Amino acid sequence: MIQIRKMLPRDRSAIYEILQQTDMFTLDEISVAMELVDIFLFSAEQKDYFIYVATTQADRVVGYMCYGPTPATVGTFDLYWIAVSPDMQNQGVGKQLLLYVENLVLEQEGRMLIIETSSQERYSSTQKFYERNGYAIEARIAHFYRLGDDRLIYVKRFIPARGGEE
Ligand SMILES: CC(C)(COP(=O)(O)OP(=O)(O)OC[C@H]1O[C@@H](n2cnc3c(N)ncnc32)[C@H](O)[C@@H]1OP(=O)(O)O)[C@@H](O)C(=O)NCCC(=O)NCCS
Repeated sequence: MIQIRKMLPRDRSAIYEILQQTDMFTLDEISVAMELVDIFLFSAEQKDYFIYVATTQADRVVGYMCYGPTPATVGTFDLYWIAVSPDMQNQGVGKQLLLYVENLVLEQEGRMLIIETSSQERYSSTQKFYERNGYAIEARIAHFYRLGDDRLIYVKRFIPARGGEE
Protein backbone atom coordinates (compact mmCIF):
# COMPACT_ATOMS: atom_id res chain seq x y z
CA MET A 1 0.00 0.00 0.00
CA ILE A 2 1.36 3.37 -1.04
CA GLN A 3 0.70 6.45 1.04
CA ILE A 4 1.26 10.07 0.13
CA ARG A 5 2.32 12.70 2.65
CA LYS A 6 4.07 16.06 2.74
CA MET A 7 7.84 15.87 2.43
CA LEU A 8 9.84 16.04 5.69
CA PRO A 9 13.53 17.06 6.08
CA ARG A 10 14.49 13.40 6.63
CA ASP A 11 13.25 12.55 3.09
CA ARG A 12 15.82 14.82 1.40
CA SER A 13 18.46 12.17 0.67
CA ALA A 14 15.86 9.66 -0.57
CA ILE A 15 14.63 12.20 -3.12
CA TYR A 16 18.18 12.90 -4.24
CA GLU A 17 18.76 9.16 -4.73
CA ILE A 18 15.54 8.73 -6.73
CA LEU A 19 16.52 11.60 -9.03
CA GLN A 20 19.91 9.96 -9.61
CA GLN A 21 18.60 6.42 -9.98
CA THR A 22 15.98 7.23 -12.62
CA ASP A 23 18.93 7.90 -14.94
CA MET A 24 16.78 10.47 -16.72
CA PHE A 25 18.11 13.74 -15.34
CA THR A 26 21.37 15.59 -15.95
CA LEU A 27 23.43 16.85 -12.99
CA ASP A 28 22.11 20.36 -13.73
CA GLU A 29 18.53 19.15 -13.65
CA ILE A 30 19.12 17.30 -10.38
CA SER A 31 20.58 20.40 -8.79
CA VAL A 32 17.59 22.48 -9.92
CA ALA A 33 15.24 19.84 -8.48
CA MET A 34 17.18 19.89 -5.19
CA GLU A 35 17.03 23.70 -5.08
CA LEU A 36 13.25 23.44 -5.07
CA VAL A 37 13.45 20.76 -2.35
CA ASP A 38 15.53 23.13 -0.21
CA ILE A 39 13.23 26.09 -0.81
CA PHE A 40 10.31 23.92 0.30
CA LEU A 41 12.14 22.61 3.38
CA PHE A 42 13.97 25.70 4.57
CA SER A 43 12.12 28.83 3.35
CA ALA A 44 9.24 28.94 5.75
CA GLU A 45 7.51 31.91 4.11
CA GLN A 46 7.57 30.69 0.50
CA LYS A 47 4.31 29.75 -1.22
CA ASP A 48 5.58 28.68 -4.64
CA TYR A 49 6.69 25.06 -4.20
CA PHE A 50 5.02 22.17 -2.40
CA ILE A 51 6.46 18.69 -2.21
CA TYR A 52 4.78 15.39 -1.42
CA VAL A 53 6.32 11.93 -1.19
CA ALA A 54 4.90 8.49 -1.90
CA THR A 55 5.91 5.99 0.77
CA THR A 56 5.57 2.28 1.44
CA GLN A 57 4.04 1.02 4.67
CA ALA A 58 7.58 0.90 6.10
CA ASP A 59 7.89 4.64 5.23
CA ARG A 60 10.39 4.07 2.43
CA VAL A 61 10.18 7.03 0.02
CA VAL A 62 9.54 5.57 -3.45
CA GLY A 63 8.49 8.68 -5.36
CA TYR A 64 7.84 12.38 -5.09
CA MET A 65 6.29 15.33 -6.81
CA CYS A 66 6.78 19.08 -6.61
CA TYR A 67 4.02 21.44 -7.69
CA GLY A 68 2.86 24.98 -7.09
CA PRO A 69 0.65 27.82 -8.27
CA THR A 70 2.10 29.41 -11.39
CA PRO A 71 3.15 32.94 -10.38
CA ALA A 72 1.01 35.82 -11.72
CA THR A 73 -1.86 33.54 -12.81
CA VAL A 74 -5.29 32.83 -11.35
CA GLY A 75 -6.01 29.12 -11.11
CA THR A 76 -3.03 27.80 -13.10
CA PHE A 77 -0.65 25.34 -11.47
CA ASP A 78 2.64 23.75 -12.53
CA LEU A 79 3.84 20.25 -11.81
CA TYR A 80 7.57 20.95 -11.66
CA TRP A 81 8.88 17.45 -10.95
CA ILE A 82 7.62 13.93 -10.61
CA ALA A 83 9.80 10.88 -10.23
CA VAL A 84 9.41 7.31 -9.04
CA SER A 85 12.19 4.99 -7.92
CA PRO A 86 13.08 2.66 -10.85
CA ASP A 87 12.29 -0.51 -8.88
CA MET A 88 8.80 0.86 -8.14
CA GLN A 89 7.90 2.15 -11.59
CA ASN A 90 4.96 0.69 -13.58
CA GLN A 91 3.09 -0.18 -10.41
CA GLY A 92 0.79 2.80 -10.30
CA VAL A 93 2.83 5.04 -7.96
CA GLY A 94 3.20 7.82 -10.56
CA LYS A 95 -0.51 7.73 -11.26
CA GLN A 96 -1.28 8.01 -7.55
CA LEU A 97 1.03 11.03 -7.23
CA LEU A 98 -0.61 12.63 -10.26
CA LEU A 99 -4.14 12.06 -8.89
CA TYR A 100 -3.01 13.47 -5.57
CA VAL A 101 -1.68 16.69 -7.08
CA GLU A 102 -4.79 17.04 -9.26
CA ASN A 103 -6.95 16.84 -6.12
CA LEU A 104 -4.83 19.48 -4.41
CA VAL A 105 -5.24 21.73 -7.46
CA LEU A 106 -9.01 21.15 -7.52
CA GLU A 107 -9.25 21.96 -3.79
CA GLN A 108 -7.64 25.32 -4.61
CA GLU A 109 -10.08 25.93 -7.45
CA GLY A 110 -7.35 25.37 -10.01
CA ARG A 111 -8.35 25.54 -13.66
CA MET A 112 -5.41 23.77 -15.18
CA LEU A 113 -2.22 21.88 -14.42
CA ILE A 114 0.79 22.34 -16.68
CA ILE A 115 3.61 19.83 -17.11
CA GLU A 116 6.65 20.48 -19.26
CA THR A 117 8.89 17.82 -20.65
CA SER A 118 11.44 17.12 -23.33
CA SER A 119 10.64 15.71 -26.77
CA GLN A 120 13.64 13.35 -26.64
CA GLU A 121 13.02 9.69 -27.44
CA ARG A 122 14.20 8.63 -23.98
CA TYR A 123 11.27 10.58 -22.53
CA SER A 124 8.72 8.70 -24.63
CA SER A 125 7.47 6.59 -21.70
CA THR A 126 7.11 9.77 -19.64
CA GLN A 127 5.17 11.41 -22.51
CA LYS A 128 2.88 8.37 -22.77
CA PHE A 129 2.38 8.43 -19.01
CA TYR A 130 1.07 12.02 -19.21
CA GLU A 131 -1.10 11.28 -22.26
CA ARG A 132 -2.68 8.21 -20.65
CA ASN A 133 -3.49 10.33 -17.65
CA GLY A 134 -5.42 12.94 -19.62
CA TYR A 135 -2.73 15.50 -20.48
CA ALA A 136 -2.52 16.95 -24.00
CA ILE A 137 0.29 18.85 -25.69
CA GLU A 138 -0.92 22.43 -26.13
CA ALA A 139 2.42 23.98 -27.08
CA ARG A 140 5.74 22.88 -28.41
CA ILE A 141 8.84 25.06 -28.54
CA ALA A 142 11.25 23.67 -31.11
CA HIS A 143 14.93 23.32 -30.10
CA PHE A 144 14.16 24.75 -26.65
CA TYR A 145 16.48 22.66 -24.46
CA ARG A 146 19.11 22.21 -27.15
CA LEU A 147 19.15 21.64 -30.91
CA GLY A 148 16.70 18.84 -31.71
CA ASP A 149 15.26 18.79 -28.18
CA ASP A 150 11.88 20.52 -28.01
CA ARG A 151 9.95 21.66 -24.96
CA LEU A 152 6.52 19.97 -24.81
CA ILE A 153 3.91 21.73 -22.72
CA TYR A 154 1.20 19.36 -21.51
CA VAL A 155 -2.04 20.69 -20.05
CA LYS A 156 -4.97 19.16 -18.19
CA ARG A 157 -7.94 21.45 -17.68
CA PHE A 158 -10.42 21.11 -14.85
CA ILE A 159 -14.07 22.03 -14.74
CA PRO A 160 -14.67 24.24 -11.72
CA ALA A 161 -16.51 22.40 -8.94
CA ARG A 162 -18.65 25.45 -8.19
CA GLY A 163 -20.73 27.45 -10.65
CA GLY A 164 -21.05 31.21 -10.37
CA GLU A 165 -20.07 34.36 -12.15
CA GLU A 166 -16.57 34.92 -13.42
C1 LIG B 1 7.08 9.07 -15.39
C2 LIG B 1 7.00 8.35 -14.05
C3 LIG B 1 6.89 9.38 -12.92
C4 LIG B 1 5.75 7.45 -14.04
O1 LIG B 1 5.64 6.79 -12.80
P1 LIG B 1 5.18 5.25 -12.68
O2 LIG B 1 4.99 4.97 -11.25
O3 LIG B 1 6.13 4.38 -13.42
O4 LIG B 1 3.79 5.31 -13.48
P2 LIG B 1 2.52 4.34 -13.31
O5 LIG B 1 2.95 3.03 -12.79
O6 LIG B 1 1.46 5.06 -12.56
O7 LIG B 1 2.01 4.23 -14.80
C5 LIG B 1 2.81 3.66 -15.82
C6 LIG B 1 2.21 2.33 -16.31
O8 LIG B 1 2.40 1.37 -15.29
C7 LIG B 1 1.41 0.35 -15.39
N1 LIG B 1 0.61 0.33 -14.14
C8 LIG B 1 -0.14 1.29 -13.60
N2 LIG B 1 -0.73 0.87 -12.47
C9 LIG B 1 -0.32 -0.39 -12.27
C10 LIG B 1 -0.56 -1.34 -11.25
N3 LIG B 1 -1.35 -1.07 -10.19
N4 LIG B 1 0.07 -2.53 -11.36
C11 LIG B 1 0.86 -2.80 -12.43
N5 LIG B 1 1.11 -1.91 -13.42
C12 LIG B 1 0.54 -0.74 -13.34
C13 LIG B 1 0.60 0.71 -16.54
O9 LIG B 1 1.12 0.16 -17.72
C14 LIG B 1 0.75 2.22 -16.56
O10 LIG B 1 0.26 2.65 -17.74
P3 LIG B 1 -1.34 2.94 -17.91
O11 LIG B 1 -1.52 4.39 -17.51
O12 LIG B 1 -1.59 2.68 -19.35
O13 LIG B 1 -2.10 2.03 -17.02
C15 LIG B 1 8.23 7.44 -13.79
O14 LIG B 1 8.33 6.51 -14.85
C16 LIG B 1 9.55 8.18 -13.65
O15 LIG B 1 9.94 8.54 -12.55
N6 LIG B 1 10.25 8.39 -14.78
C17 LIG B 1 11.57 9.01 -14.74
C18 LIG B 1 11.51 10.44 -14.34
C19 LIG B 1 10.68 11.28 -15.27
O16 LIG B 1 10.68 11.11 -16.47
N7 LIG B 1 9.96 12.23 -14.66
C20 LIG B 1 9.12 13.16 -15.40
C21 LIG B 1 9.87 14.31 -15.95
S1 LIG B 1 9.94 15.63 -14.79
